[in-house]
Amino acid sequence: VKLTQEDLKRVAAHRAVEFVEPGMALGLGTGSTAAHALDRLGDLLRAGALPGVAGVPTSLKTELHATRVGIPLLPLGGDGGPSRIHLSIDGADEVDPDLNLVKGRGGSLLREKMIEGAGEKFVVIVDDSKLVPRLGCTGAVPVEVIPFGAPHTLGLIRKVFDGLPGFHARLRMVRKDAEEDTPFVTDNGNYIVEMFFEDGIRGDLHNISDQLLRITGVVEHGMFLSMATTVIIANKDGTITVMD
Ligand code: A5P
Repeated sequence: VKLTQEDLKRVAAHRAVEFVEPGMALGLGTGSTAAHALDRLGDLLRAGALPGVAGVPTSLKTELHATRVGIPLLPLGGDGGPSRIHLSIDGADEVDPDLNLVKGRGGSLLREKMIEGAGEKFVVIVDDSKLVPRLGCTGAVPVEVIPFGAPHTLGLIRKVFDGLPGFHARLRMVRKDAEEDTPFVTDNGNYIVEMFFEDGIRGDLHNISDQLLRITGVVEHGMFLSMATTVIIANKDGTITVMD
């Protein structure tokens, strides 16, 4: 039997859920791969297999999904929040050989980075189509910006890559009606700038990250550098590769 991409996502997600132990506070990821992990967690919780497990959702969508499958939710920080997040499980848009990631093509990068950066372990689940030689090879690298002055911030982001052949950046738009597009709005009420690179990002990723984060209108970007502790890859032939 030939495994579909959806099957592969499920295989990776189920393997990651094996890391979950009773009493853990989890970071709950967003996207079609992470959704399989939510379903699996819900099944195990309902069967009574994981007492005391609760999760911090990385998006409003995940909050709804987790609620639907019966995963208790926690806030990030504050009186009701966990003192530690033991483990986060999430998908990614790209994974490079050093386990750096592009995330946020679904638009949830800010909460993902807050939660996954706060946890002790961050397990990334992907099918092998997500493996790239360099970040930015297969599509947009998103940057969350505040709506105020977004065209100005877009100009400053372009300046970081001034003269780089093939680079372009634009505001992510969604179709409003037949005639009009409108900016995509994140769960946090912000906009997304999409950066495109002809052949991926070359150069020092940490340095590029610093330059982007130094722009005042930038809230966060979708390069997740040195954050993943484990990457679970479901290969087309149904085998699993674990990198850490
Ligand atoms: C959400 O904003 C993203 O960071 C997702 O984690 C990423 O897009 C992976 O999604 P899929 O598992 O649907 O590919």
